[in-house]
Amino acid sequence: MVQLSLLLLVSAFAHSALSVYPLVDLGYSKFLGTAQSNGVTSWWGLRFAAPPLGNLRFSAPQAPLYNGTLQIANTHGPLCLATGGAPTDPTTSEDCLFLDVYAPSNATAASKLPVFIWIQGGGFNANSNGNYRGDGMILASGMDMVVVTFNYRVSLYGFLASQEVVAGGNTNVGLLDQRFAMEWVQKYITAFGGDPGHVTIGGCSAGGASITFQLTAYGGRDDGLFHAAAAESASVFTILTVEQSQYQYDALVERVGCNTTADTLACLREVNATTLQANNYNIPYPGLGPNASAPLFMYDAVIDGGFIQDFSQRQFAEGKFVKVPVIYGDDTNGGTDFAPQSTANYSQMDQFLIDNYPTMTPDQITAINYMYPEDMEFFNGTGAFWRTASNAYGEMAYLCPGMYVSTAYATYSTLGSWNYRYNVEDPTQMAEGYGVPHTVETAAIWGPQYVSGSPPASYWPNGTNADIVPVMQGYWTSFIRSYSPNTHRVLGSAVWQEWVPTTQDRIMVQTNATAMETVDINEQARCAYLTANSVFWEQ
Ligand SMILES: *[C@@H]1O[C@H](CO)[C@@H](O)[C@H](O)[C@H]1NC(C)=O
Ligand SMILES: *[C@@H]1O[C@H](CO)[C@@H](O)[C@H](O)[C@H]1NC(C)=O
Ligand SMILES: *[C@@H]1O[C@H](CO)[C@@H](O)[C@H](O)[C@H]1NC(C)=O
Ligand SMILES: *[C@@H]1O[C@H](CO)[C@@H](O)[C@H](O)[C@H]1NC(C)=O
Ligand SMILES: *[C@@H]1O[C@H](CO)[C@@H](O)[C@H](O)[C@H]1NC(C)=O
Ligand SMILES: *[C@@H]1O[C@H](CO)[C@@H](O)[C@H](O)[C@H]1NC(C)=O
Ligand SMILES: *[C@@H]1O[C@H](CO)[C@@H](O)[C@H](O)[C@H]1NC(C)=O
Ligand SMILES: *[C@@H]1O[C@H](CO)[C@@H](O)[C@H](O)[C@H]1NC(C)=O
Ligand SMILES: *[C@@H]1O[C@H](CO)[C@@H](O)[C@H](O)[C@H]1NC(C)=O
Repeated sequence: MVQLSLLLLVSAFAHSALSVYPLVDLGYSKFLGTAQSNGVTSWWGLRFAAPPLGNLRFSAPQAPLYNGTLQIANTHGPLCLATGGAPTDPTTSEDCLFLDVYAPSNATAASKLPVFIWIQGGGFNANSNGNYRGDGMILASGMDMVVVTFNYRVSLYGFLASQEVVAGGNTNVGLLDQRFAMEWVQKYITAFGGDPGHVTIGGCSAGGASITFQLTAYGGRDDGLFHAAAAESASVFTILTVEQSQYQYDALVERVGCNTTADTLACLREVNATTLQANNYNIPYPGLGPNASAPLFMYDAVIDGGFIQDFSQRQFAEGKFVKVPVIYGDDTNGGTDFAPQSTANYSQMDQFLIDNYPTMTPDQITAINYMYPEDMEFFNGTGAFWRTASNAYGEMAYLCPGMYVSTAYATYSTLGSWNYRYNVEDPTQMAEGYGVPHTVETAAIWGPQYVSGSPPASYWPNGTNADIVPVMQGYWTSFIRSYSPNTHRVLGSAVWQEWVPTTQDRIMVQTNATAMETVDINEQARCAYLTANSVFWEQ
């Protein structure tokens, strides 16, 4: 009976011969999507790579095997296992390499619509922006684009690195998963109405860092997988070499009892995910002494001489990156989500910086303390130096590196380099002291109805910041459709001028007051210091 009704369903859709069928046959599997009443068809939970289990744990992704059973694509795939995640959390799984596709229901295989591939964040230790829905952006684009979201391996599953992993597996497999999803788009997106020759990659936080790593991958080799890039609040954490990462591997091996075996990698592949998760936690960088805490994000991309050949900042300085139109930018208070709220004085702030950037020297710490005088905004229940530490961390990890990339693109490429500061104040976030926090702009770009988590109440259609949603969607969908944020921007919104390294003009996004601004001269000076020194603290 079920099979009969499916057949009827399939033949019903076969009549509208010009539409993208909700049933898409990719050869290795057939996926039945859902045509929604808003004019967008969605396909959820498409397996894009073989399950990364057994011998594929710690190895590059492989093509999925043929499965002749019709896949009813109406359920998101589980998110990848996160650092510290409960072993039994049913929303996650080690078998997590799934993607979702959204397309206008009236698109055809001949439509060749611009494609947006979203790389979610989560500090490379979690999938934090999973299952965002592309409907809002497609509606905002006038049904002129296709959206792809996906999960990639994170934490130890995505970024374990050691000499054993190099010998018997692969490093940076989380980034290889991303690449694999992009290759999937090249092979299959036409069937959904998309144009493999017009692909924009975008992402926030570690998704923004992923944009950076994909732009600089293999020394900046252009594999034709994307044609524009938009990085939101891109993070730049400590980057270790494979050799420097060995302690993470050794500690894990010992924790799960694999230290008594000759082939520790084979042993780690035999341990089940429940046991791995029970032992999946961060430890401080070595040599930091008894006061150290674990960094916020321990597992991270590593310099492996292949996918990642150098600090990305150095590659940007040398022109070793794919030349495409780019947007980079950040929020006004990118550090407030991360600096410990209890931070009470400079010595605690400095310990936090050292915990996360362990090779900072005392001189560098002194300079940073000098650059960030005590912020006199205080919030109930928090330490006096929370905002001071946030200011330093926000500029160091997010804001200044983004400006650096904008400068590199403006210097080496003529295709367009745009920078933004997102400064939309939500009353609740302001009152709680978060200011305009990390990645909040994603809620405006996707629309508050279409993101996971809790977008600010003021962004909803009945809220005081509702008007910023169409403005941000206008810039982003314009960039995705035409490689410029201005072509299809919302009527009446400001022209977003390109970044010029000598003048440092960016767009400042604010409800009813979006306009170009010149970066404050003190901020320019702080960023100049930070980017001149960050490679020395292995950022
Ligand atoms: C094939 O797909 C069906 C439906 O999703 C699933 O139940 C089955 O486990 C799959 N088979 C294999 C070998 O993965
Ligand atoms: C799909 O609908 C949109 C908006 O209604 C329209 O602009 C577009 O031309 C249509 N596309 C096709 C292929 O019919
Ligand atoms: C393995 O690790 C355990 C737990 O730390 C330790 O007691 C044991 O001595 C180690 N064995 C070897 C061979 O290193
Ligand atoms: C995982 O392995 C542990 C230790 O061998 C075992 O006790 C446990 O039952 C296993 N869990 C699952 C879900 O297989
Ligand atoms: C650890 O912190 C305490 C209290 O702030 C301080 O007195 C001590 O010198 C610190 N120890 C090291 C090794 O940094
Ligand atoms: C910083 O604050 C902490 C917590 O209140 C306190 O224990 C420590 O002594 C302070 N350090 C300095 C140098 O004032
Ligand atoms: C500060 O927080 C405490 C505990 O949450 C609360 O009782 C108090 O009313 C708050 N004070 C102000 C001024 O908001
Ligand atoms: C605004 O809209 C949201 C979502 O529909 C709803 O949850 C919220 O209660 C509304 N707020 C007000 C003040 O009406
Ligand atoms: C923005 O402008 C609209 C239309 O003039 C107005 O209704 C709204 O209150 C303004 N919002 C803010 C936050 O200024």
